Amino acid sequence: MDLFEYQARDLFAKHGVPVLAGEVIDTPEAAREATERLGGKSVVKAQVKVGGRGKAGGVKLAATPDEAVARATDILGMDIKGHTVHKVMIAETAPEILEEYYVSYLLDRTNRTFLAMASVAGGMDIEEVAATTPEKLAKVPVDANEGVSIEKAREIVAQAQFPAEVAEQVAEVMVTLWKTFVAEDALLVEVNPLAKVASGDVIALDGKVSLDENADFRQPEHEALVDKAAANPLEAAAKAKNLNYVKLDGEVGIIGNGAGLVMSTLDVVAYAGEAHGGVKPANFLDIGGGASAEVMANGLEIILGDPDVKSVFVNVFGGITACDEVANGIVQALELLKSKGEDVTKPLVVRLDGNNAELGRKILSDANHPLVQRVDTMDGAADKAAELAAAK
Ligand SMILES: Nc1ncnc2c1ncn2[C@@H]1O[C@H](COP(=O)(O)OP(=O)(O)OP(=O)(O)O)[C@@H](O)[C@H]1O
Ligand SMILES: [Mg+2]
Repeated sequence: MDLFEYQARDLFAKHGVPVLAGEVIDTPEAAREATERLGGKSVVKAQVKVGGRGKAGGVKLAATPDEAVARATDILGMDIKGHTVHKVMIAETAPEILEEYYVSYLLDRTNRTFLAMASVAGGMDIEEVAATTPEKLAKVPVDANEGVSIEKAREIVAQAQFPAEVAEQVAEVMVTLWKTFVAEDALLVEVNPLAKVASGDVIALDGKVSLDENADFRQPEHEALVDKAAANPLEAAAKAKNLNYVKLDGEVGIIGNGAGLVMSTLDVVAYAGEAHGGVKPANFLDIGGGASAEVMANGLEIILGDPDVKSVFVNVFGGITACDEVANGIVQALELLKSKGEDVTKPLVVRLDGNNAELGRKILSDANHPLVQRVDTMDGAADKAAELAAAK
């Protein structure tokens, strides 16, 4: 989960990374009081989860409270690379900025380690620095068990060739930033710019944090950081039921067991859909290995509740959970939904293969549900589901 800048700022402050004061607001008028609290001037910063805000006009200085209101008026509602600005941060103005650096930690999947990155050429264009002058971006692997001691931090700072007068301060920031990274179970913590200001201090002026949702179970405070307004209601409902669901923009609802099978089902349906006016998969939903009737019912409920869905493709390859259990699951799920008053009105195409396929198919045939049809090949079933979606 990516955080907004103001949330990253709060986490930095909590773990001792030097930041400036700031508060988040969502009306222009609130910019006045917030700016007054900061002594009469501020920086008005768009809060969107996308880079390049400054260049897009989403970061503006305000010399007076009135100006802050005017800038907040400009920025609220602005579209930055497809993201509408709903909130702005009113930040304390940094003293004169002398230099802008870049520092970050991230999970380096390719090398199965963590990585520290640091550069004295920070500011707004670190991607360009990385692309055109990679020697200016130090990359130092960090051993998960050893972490970042002050000695390790000094090594990172030396590799990036920070000027002597800030080296120790930056090393201390690297230590507190690592603490943030570990304590919050982050996948990325980035400061850009880490600014050297007139007083000689270094301060984090902009932060990016991405949290590892797999650690949510031990991070109860992270729940409050979720941007509920941006969440898709179907995805939220699926999450509440512990389903692995992603909303897509097509018309064919998809249920399968196993992420790989579901991914290939999306491809097959998109391909089949080309012959039927370009219908596409409406979602990803992996109900996993041991899918009970209840899980199947939960999955069907979410998918049938999607107004975009015109037909449903249930694609199951029986393994440890054999096809007869899955078939019983489907039959029971349909009954369960009916008893809840959510009778199925959209056609279902079911393909069962693998362990106990014959028995599973028989169970479906015997149940003889008017809206369920069996197609025994994956391509054939995808084509049928696409055809039914197109016909609606
Ligand atoms: N509180 C502040 N006081 C003074 N100047 C600031 C402050 N915050 C940001 N700036 C200046 O504005 C520039 C851009 O700000 P910031 O890094 O927050 O946005 P950005 O880099 O454009 O956004 P993104 O990280 O989304 O690409 C900074 O490099 C810095 O020069
Ligand atoms: Mg920035």
